[in-house]
Amino acid sequence: MVERKKTEEDAASIASLKPFRLVKFFSYSGLAVFLLFTLVLSWIISNHAKKVLLERSEAYAFVVAENLSHQVFQQFVLPTVVRYGKIALRNPEQFARLDAVVRNATHGMRIQAVTIFDSRENIISYSTVATRIGRTGEGGIEYRKALAGNNNSVVRSTGSLLNLLPGGRPISSQLSTFIPFRQYQANNQKRDVIMGVIEVVQDLSEDVEAITKLQGSIILTSMLIMSALFVVLGFIVARADRIIDARAEERRRLEQQLHQSQRLATLGKMVASVSHEIKNPLGIVRSTADILGKRLKSVAPGNEHLAEIIVEETGRLDGIVREFLDFARPQEPKMAPTSVNDIFSKILKFMEPELEQQKIVLETSLSQDMPRISLDQGLMHRACLNILVNSVQAMPGGGKLTVETRYEKATDMAMLVVSDTGGGMSLEKQGHIFTPFYTDKNRGTGLGLAIVKNIVDSHQGTIFVDSKEGEGATFTVALPVG
Ligand SMILES: Nc1ncnc2c1ncn2[C@@H]1O[C@H](COP(=O)(O)OP(=O)(O)OP(=O)(O)O)[C@@H](O)[C@H]1O
Ligand SMILES: [Mg+2]
Repeated sequence: MVERKKTEEDAASIASLKPFRLVKFFSYSGLAVFLLFTLVLSWIISNHAKKVLLERSEAYAFVVAENLSHQVFQQFVLPTVVRYGKIALRNPEQFARLDAVVRNATHGMRIQAVTIFDSRENIISYSTVATRIGRTGEGGIEYRKALAGNNNSVVRSTGSLLNLLPGGRPISSQLSTFIPFRQYQANNQKRDVIMGVIEVVQDLSEDVEAITKLQGSIILTSMLIMSALFVVLGFIVARADRIIDARAEERRRLEQQLHQSQRLATLGKMVASVSHEIKNPLGIVRSTADILGKRLKSVAPGNEHLAEIIVEETGRLDGIVREFLDFARPQEPKMAPTSVNDIFSKILKFMEPELEQQKIVLETSLSQDMPRISLDQGLMHRACLNILVNSVQAMPGGGKLTVETRYEKATDMAMLVVSDTGGGMSLEKQGHIFTPFYTDKNRGTGLGLAIVKNIVDSHQGTIFVDSKEGEGATFTVALPVG
């Protein structure tokens, strides 16, 4: 039964935590999805930018190459053929002329290199890069496509995002555009005769690097935002965890309290019925012992004290039983305007001989402007008496007992304060003293302060203790006046 209840409780607590776990899960996976999304987005953006860059550069290169092809034909091929009969670039004059034409035509046009391939064999006849001149077999598939009459281009790139890291090699990107080198008619119309292939190389490294940097900064920014979100979320989660823990702890405490009070209620009922049953026989024992004592006087003189012991002890037992009953019975206070000063005065008058006997000095300070308070005189009398009796018991070797009443106007509360110079209590002990049956006295029931607390509670008041071991104790009861 207990086991089942426990598992039910566990299930309930897990159920209460579930929605939060779900939120946590969604938040974290949301962040991950967002990060992935940004990565993909940055890749799409940079790819698109690169594509646009290449298309524009290619279109530009076609125009430049066409223009170059026209100029080379007009300003180099035709005059050279007229003057020398044939083109032979080994002739330095011819080479210098072609070089001048090419450099003039491409001047200021962001062209890195121009190369002219021969049409008959895959050999470089001219290049602005001197070391390439004369090399064979360097024109690849692009060369062959151009020879077949098709303009085309190829990108040669190295480097990626990683090259942006400190110490990485610079990103490089070259666009090589190949167009057929044709002959022109007098009216500037192209002929079908292809004399070679012109390759125009553009350096796009700077632009590609800028695009890659943009991609990097998109990723970096989103990662920064992500991290900030993550930290904030982490804080929220940690806080929520703490709140949940605190709530669980509070619930456990309340449950414990509930169990405790349920146990006490059952115990109270039991104690009440047992006490009730004991009360009557106890009365009979006591009166019988009384009669016995009288008879003993005549039958066995000198033994009367035995009967007296029975009477005395049954009297004490009666007191304990009454205390049990007081604690166990539900106490409905019967309220009437009462002077708390009067209650104290009456008790102190009654205790005077005992205080004197125990060498306890009494100091009273009963407030004159204390209003009358609506309370159950009998119950409050009992509560104050219990507190005072404890104080007296705490000073077996004498001391000072201080009783004070005070009206606090601001809070409209009556403060009843009892201090002694007895042995005091540790903090740990202070946590137990209002618990029923807690006592360290041989002849105590441990119900005194539990009864006091019940009474103060039923008057909507509060009771607290201030004490240090070896330095006496102060009990304060605060009662609402209005
Ligand atoms: N003024 C005090 N100074 C030091 N300890 C105290 C004082 N008042 C109470 N206590 C401690 O609190 C315990 C509980 O007090 P409580 O009045 O409830 O029971 P008790 O006095 O032991 O027994 P009972 O009052 O039923 O005869 C006491 O046993 C004592 O240890
Ligand atoms: Mg007591």
